[in-house]
Amino acid sequence: MKKLDPANQLLLAQLADGRFHSGEELGEMLSLSRASISKRMAELRRLGLDVFSVKGKGYRLPYPISLLDESRLKASIGENLQVWSEVGSTNDLLKDAASLTSGDVVLAECQTAGRGRRGQTWVSPFGAHLYFSLFWQLDSRHAALQGLSLVTGVAVAKAINDWLGDAVRLKWPNDLYHNGRKLGGILVEMVGQANGPVNIIIGVGLNVAMPPESASRVDQPWVDLQQIYGQQVDRTELANKVISALREALALFADRGLAAFVDDWNRLDCFWGQAVVLKNEKSQQVGICRGIEGDGALLLEAGGQVTRIYGGELSMRSHDNALG
Ligand code: BTN
Repeated sequence: MKKLDPANQLLLAQLADGRFHSGEELGEMLSLSRASISKRMAELRRLGLDVFSVKGKGYRLPYPISLLDESRLKASIGENLQVWSEVGSTNDLLKDAASLTSGDVVLAECQTAGRGRRGQTWVSPFGAHLYFSLFWQLDSRHAALQGLSLVTGVAVAKAINDWLGDAVRLKWPNDLYHNGRKLGGILVEMVGQANGPVNIIIGVGLNVAMPPESASRVDQPWVDLQQIYGQQVDRTELANKVISALREALALFADRGLAAFVDDWNRLDCFWGQAVVLKNEKSQQVGICRGIEGDGALLLEAGGQVTRIYGGELSMRSHDNALG
């Protein structure tokens, strides 16, 4: 994992507006030579940033980016978070951490080995989307993973909808969707001991502003917040809203269980009342989606019978159109 040194952070903060900045202006600001500015630009490029230079004009990014502001985040949601410039995967970083308390969070500007469910890669370009993982400990193993992953989806979707407008929906168990396209995903992993409290890592990835050069690497229909809401989204404020909502929801889940979230989940279900096909490696079931029940099961109605579906590794498609 990496953090930019203060001078590179300042440089990046200047470039974030997407305008030209001359080597001279940047050099004066940081009391550095133009040669050393040029060397530092090469370091920023190594993070995947497309910094380009034009003779006589200076350096710029092809478009503005919104950077994570660690001190602003700490001031609003507490000191128990870290922001890194580059990590392998924020989930893996928490897995390797020595001692953690419920609610601890790590965020990253980019991930070099971001992971999705079912062993997929999560495309994580620098400064573009939101990538974070939160640690949570539950007293009992009972329905922990399934319940927690559903609760996380509700918390994240509601936080966005309350802030920016009601447009985000859920696809079972916890994909964030908008009009048949994936906006974000959640990777919940259990770590540690077989008995006693359960340690859980909840990884959240949300598309904010997809860089054109990354779009082709995403292997399913996707959407980002910038497209949905037609505006540039402040990633620090987004992290603030989503992390606070998630911490609150997990405390409520620990207290009252999944029952407190079932109505919200069903209201946000993008397939409710629709014909769906539920597939896993071995079989395929067709039915009408009837949302979830208090134990996290998905209800599928077919031929007057309701089947309860468990397990987070099934994929779900609308009857005729593949939705990914
Ligand atoms: C999915 O496949 O839908 C789940 C995607 C989860 C991605 C997030 S990004 C932050 C955290 N770190 C990871 O490596 N994955 C999760």
